[in-house]
Amino acid sequence: MKLGFIGCGVISIAHVEGLEELKRKGLETFELSAVCDIQHERAEQFASAVAKRLGKRPAVYTDYRVMVEKEQLDAVSVLINHDLHHTVAEDCFAAGVHVQMQKPLAISPSFGWKMIADAKKFNKVITLSEPSVLGAENVAMVKAIKDGVIGSISLILDYATVTLNRGFFAGTPWRHMKGQAGAGWINDHGVHRTHFFTEINGSIDEVFAYTEIFEKELSNGYVSIKPTGEDTAVTVFKYTNGGLGNWMCATSTHGEKTGGAWIYGSKGCLRPGQHVTLADGKKILLPELIERYAPGIVEHPFAHSYVELWEAITESKLPISSAERGLEALGVVFAALESATIGKPVRVQDILSGEKHAYEDTVLEEMKIV
Ligand SMILES: NC(=O)c1ccc[n+]([C@@H]2O[C@H](COP(=O)([O-])OP(=O)(O)OC[C@H]3O[C@@H](n4cnc5c(N)ncnc54)[C@H](O)[C@@H]3O)[C@@H](O)[C@H]2O)c1
Repeated sequence: MKLGFIGCGVISIAHVEGLEELKRKGLETFELSAVCDIQHERAEQFASAVAKRLGKRPAVYTDYRVMVEKEQLDAVSVLINHDLHHTVAEDCFAAGVHVQMQKPLAISPSFGWKMIADAKKFNKVITLSEPSVLGAENVAMVKAIKDGVIGSISLILDYATVTLNRGFFAGTPWRHMKGQAGAGWINDHGVHRTHFFTEINGSIDEVFAYTEIFEKELSNGYVSIKPTGEDTAVTVFKYTNGGLGNWMCATSTHGEKTGGAWIYGSKGCLRPGQHVTLADGKKILLPELIERYAPGIVEHPFAHSYVELWEAITESKLPISSAERGLEALGVVFAALESATIGKPVRVQDILSGEKHAYEDTVLEEMKIV
């Protein structure tokens, strides 16, 4: 099947690595036949990088509507800023093309619902490329937890801070503006975490959060912005099954970064990406978990995302990383943002049902003026 990329920025080359892994393993996969970016030079350079890795240079476009019309694509991967996810998806569905979307599914929950409805309306597939639940390592960790390796989960701790020195995350100013990113890092990075949390232990019922914008101006020396997205978020949450969580992320910290998650259960602790430690001190390393729980799954999360897209199109198989799960993850992030806005705990269900939307309203407001 013929695949196109819309957006040739920071993350796009990692997707080519995913396609490369599938090719190397002799697995059936898409041919990346066209790429598009509004920055022509960027798209040309990216096409050359694709040619080196995959052996064939894709056609280059600067308008994705022209690309999908001319190239007779089966599917596209959408790799652009969050405010454009829903309009690009709708245009692609309408042109008869299946869509793989990057996280977050949409800039805000109401647009996430729209995308799912649009896919149904045009009878097209939508999958989400959410690496935190894809690839052998992540699939093995989730299955091990569901199999009871660490018992029933009581507590999740997840901390991530980065030191940007008042610069831009990944060199991209748009990530700090809520009208383009949906929020600050709590959405861009946070949705990876909430997707993983809910994958391993089911739905989160209620969230309470404080958020701040500590850095009032960010600059890379020639572009300066006044960020509207939160740079610091401190959150607590309660699972439907009773487990508790403490989750923090910040791009405002200086000097030292932090990173790590601890999943505590009645029999032990899982350190994502590292190992399990059982109550008697015995360690189970990830390769053992992969052998036991994910033997047939490709390693690279993005390689896996294209396996999921392929199987969703050819076999109507429900992907692990579905749009619906992505919407739930986005709902948890927006519950935190809502809570910080109104100063009260917020139920995720009230965000997903649209009953509470004070924070989302501020995003929609800014989208009109960006
Ligand atoms: N680990 C991950 O899963 C991961 C990591 C990084 C980014 N992402 C996601 O991938 C998406 C892209 O992020 P990025 O870091 O590559 O951003 P980026 O800003 O580096 O790249 C986006 C590209 O899209 C192009 N673009 C903008 N509007 C366009 C349009 N209308 N048509 C065609 N091209 C257009 C821009 O010129 C830019 O080159 C976001 O949704 C982001 O959250 C996911």
